Amino acid sequence: MTKNILVTGGAGYIGSHTVVELIQHGFNPIVLDNFSNSRPSVIDSLEEITQQKIISVTGDCRDAAVYDLIFSKYKIDAVIHFAADKAVGESVQNPLKYFDNNLNGLMVLLAAMERHDVKHLVFSSSCTVYGNPDNVYVDENSPLKSPESPYGFTKLVGEQMLDNMVRHGKKMRVVLLRYFNPIGAHPSALIGERPQGIPNNLLPYITQTALGIRAELSVFGNDYDTIDGTCVRDYIHVCDVADAHVSALTLLSASPDSCIEAINIGTGKGTSVLEIIRIFERETGVSLNWKFAPRREGDVPEIYAKADKALHTLNWKATYSVSDAVKHAWEWEKKTQN
Ligand code: NAD
Ligand code: UFG
Repeated sequence: MTKNILVTGGAGYIGSHTVVELIQHGFNPIVLDNFSNSRPSVIDSLEEITQQKIISVTGDCRDAAVYDLIFSKYKIDAVIHFAADKAVGESVQNPLKYFDNNLNGLMVLLAAMERHDVKHLVFSSSCTVYGNPDNVYVDENSPLKSPESPYGFTKLVGEQMLDNMVRHGKKMRVVLLRYFNPIGAHPSALIGERPQGIPNNLLPYITQTALGIRAELSVFGNDYDTIDGTCVRDYIHVCDVADAHVSALTLLSASPDSCIEAINIGTGKGTSVLEIIRIFERETGVSLNWKFAPRREGDVPEIYAKADKALHTLNWKATYSVSDAVKHAWEWEKKTQN
């Protein structure tokens, strides 16, 4: 029987790629999005990629009535909860916006799941919960640190709320996916990352600079204790991240009634900012305008994932290279800006 999966934030960057994977694996996704950080046209693109009608509900994750409507209409087997605000800088300016959308949103969802007896949840978490780690190669038992931003705080508290519920006997099955640095776009170039205004993240800044939308890329910091003085991250193709959600649903089906698992979603390899620039120039043949700039506040010098648990529990590992991801991000950027 086809399983119905509620995908909150399913029109967003990671959510939209996950909807494609879900359909390709025989699931029936129901997208709930308020389009606060995405466009309704994403749904058309999803239909073009999958050649299938997408069920999409426009609504807010903090609205209990929307869930009652969806849970009554469809027998939902599991929820993947992407919907959240994610701009680190904005969260420093406006923490309450983040507490409301990311934490209140999660609570309203959990209450609705309880009312409608839905027990399986995949929660979007982040490597931000490890803060600035003592050992840069983090596994799931690495200590969780006080996050640098209110955004990071909401991910840590979200995880802790879920952990607390399960530990105190709630019959829920939860997977916390801790994404490292998702980059790239669908190989069709029909969906990808579309930041509003000036991008905060490295890859969209690079592709927009290469197209001349931004004058110059600033490389934040060149005096870190890393391979070349610039920060190192575990960049992972968004389609690989999406695929991990399908594996997480399978894990939930085979899990005990009450359980919670945190799983790193990364490649296990670190790449510096300068290496990313070099890969971009090599893969695209475009030479990038860039300069060194002072360190960005709150940046962790180096972090990457130990991804063994994902392999053992999800039977999942990254299949795309960073070069693939950079190429796909470039194809997407060229197409979107046309
Ligand atoms: P995104 O902003 O592209 O997608 C989020 C989607 O949720 C958007 O379509 C937005 O319109 C929607 N949304 C937000 N608030 C909503 C609400 N109240 N009701 C309904 N819809 C709402 O972000 P993304 O990059 O796809 O991230 C997805 C999740 O993964 C988020 O929880 C984010 O914190 C987490 N995450 C992202 C990254 C990353 O680098 N992209 C890294 C770690 C974790
Ligand atoms: N960088 C630049 N110039 C830019 C943008 C970024 O040099 O214009 C550098 C950053 O300093 C950092 C690296 O590129 O060294 C990656 O930066 P991103 O902003 O792309 O990614 P972060 O690792 O800082 O942030 C990501 C997510 C956050 C999440 C965090 C957890 O975007 O949501 O990982 O560590 F909180």
